[in-house]
Amino acid sequence: IRVAVIGGGRNCEHEVSLASALSVEEALRHNDYQVVRLTVDRAGVWRDAELRPIGLAGAVRVLGTCDVVVPMLHGPHGEDGTLAALCDLAQLPYVGSGLRTGALAMDKWVTKLVAQAIGIAVAPGVLLTRSTASSYAFTGPVVVKPVAAGSSHGVSLIEDEAGLASALKAALELDERVLVEKQIRGREVDVAVLARPDGTRVVAPALEIVLHQGIFDQHVKYDGSADLRVPADLAEADRKALEAAAVAMYDALGCAGVARIDFFLTADGPVLNEVNTVPGFTAQSQVPKMFAAGGTSYPDLVDLLVRDALS
Ligand code: DAL
Ligand code: MG
Repeated sequence: IRVAVIGGGRNCEHEVSLASALSVEEALRHNDYQVVRLTVDRAGVWRDAELRPIGLAGAVRVLGTCDVVVPMLHGPHGEDGTLAALCDLAQLPYVGSGLRTGALAMDKWVTKLVAQAIGIAVAPGVLLTRSTASSYAFTGPVVVKPVAAGSSHGVSLIEDEAGLASALKAALELDERVLVEKQIRGREVDVAVLARPDGTRVVAPALEIVLHQGIFDQHVKYDGSADLRVPADLAEADRKALEAAAVAMYDALGCAGVARIDFFLTADGPVLNEVNTVPGFTAQSQVPKMFAAGGTSYPDLVDLLVRDALS
């Protein structure tokens, strides 16, 4: 079976995506799949396994020789549904969520609206643009983030008004729309959900990110200083509430394959943070760690996702 693995991408998560793609490739080779690597460079140029520029037309020709695609592009121009759309148009099976889901989940504002509509708590927040940003009145600790970015790029925790303008500027550099949310004080818990072809939903043991200070920002995410605890030490009622909310979000957005749904667990229950339809996928990333804790090894998880996409 020939599997195309696509990594890189035209956004700030380029490096993370390359790492995810490389790990997936290794797992596929371990399982005796034939792997065809495609890379989208930072400028958006498609490149073959030798990193020669082949363009979109060349990439589509290569994809046409494959049985299934594993899109490992995080963030805009990939996770946002664009890559799923390309596979759909080329009539190629692929791992993970489709166009609509990717587009909805990439939009943190829309994700909040969907969550609220189905009774899942979210942080109170406002949507700002370049033209409305200056009218925002600061009232207390907030998190400023671009509506559509990933790996916490452009995200700042602002505890006093002095830092607000530069935080808004940084977020607006990554997206025309920015969210300013009240800081939620709670434990940070991620839940991975995976739908099988027969319709069953598998929920991996939840993972808690224990921070010793600040927020789980782009540095802490990848410098190894965060303490990832899996299975998270949760009271039974909290575990059930988190799992139910994760599955409800997975279904409301119409996810496929594996999605990672991130929450803050507060005294009043889970508060949704966001949904990742192409979560980080190195062997050290949260999703593989969660499935490993549930008894599914990394190569087995990759194998299952590919087989499900083909079925
Ligand atoms: N956006 C990064 C890759 C994650 O959610 O894991
Ligand atoms: Mg994310």
